[in-house]
Amino acid sequence: MKREDMIFDEKYVGTLTVSHVSKYYGENDEVKALDNVSVQFFTGQLVVILGASGSGKSTLLNLIGGMDTVTDGSINIAGVDITNLSEKMFALYRREVVGFIFQFYNLMPNLTALENVELAELPGGMKAIDALKLVGLESKIDNFPSELSGGEQQRVSIARAIIKNPTVLLCDEPTGALDSKTGKKIIKLLQNVNQNKDKIVIIVTHNSNLAQIADRVIKISDGKIYSDEIQKNPKSIEEIEI
Ligand SMILES: Nc1ncnc2c1ncn2[C@@H]1O[C@H](COP(=O)(O)OP(=O)(O)O)[C@@H](O)[C@H]1O
Ligand SMILES: [Mg+2]
Repeated sequence: MKREDMIFDEKYVGTLTVSHVSKYYGENDEVKALDNVSVQFFTGQLVVILGASGSGKSTLLNLIGGMDTVTDGSINIAGVDITNLSEKMFALYRREVVGFIFQFYNLMPNLTALENVELAELPGGMKAIDALKLVGLESKIDNFPSELSGGEQQRVSIARAIIKNPTVLLCDEPTGALDSKTGKKIIKLLQNVNQNKDKIVIIVTHNSNLAQIADRVIKISDGKIYSDEIQKNPKSIEEIEI
């Protein structure tokens, strides 16, 4: 098998390595959204990345998810550098390996909730209607995004991510738009996605309470990681306030 094909075989995924990754914006690269970040993620670990607004959380997640390209550095999954893939393999990586819950939902405005989730269906996988049931939205499947609340749009975006049973599940402020009760339900759901401990799950948030459920908490500020700690006894979502 070609090395490139291996990233689509779950048994080869185990470690995701971000090496010296920088992402600069601006005409003269004056905005250092990420500045020489190195970090490794492992399957089975629920990781929360904590940081204030503007610290670089979304940038890091976008780069890992293949939504954007690095200025410098490499991102390696199962021995394959995704910053070096052909367009076709990069698209396949996004479609088949990564489940992405966007901070601002990124739903198609002219498609219904059901149709939005159907876009992410994979052959032989879960059906859109079942994913929408899991997030408690079965009564809104024919609504367009403009007819849904922020929290409901968030849940459509979550259904679209989990429908693929992704090996790498990236969640950008997944509870940001949800009330506390719905937020807890959704976190439970994200934890269930990883019940076989065979996935990489990363939740990005500015909510320090939410970090209490993580196996590991990484803190980021000004585009740099300044703390990375294992939590021996993470709390269950029922025990905390979010
Ligand atoms: N497309 C962009 N163009 C210019 N600056 C950007 C862009 N995206 C993000 N930034 C800047 O990069 C920094 C990190 O942003 P971001 O990763 O979105 O932070 P967070 O998700 O932690 O709030 C911020 O200063 C932000 O203004
Ligand atoms: Mg963000």
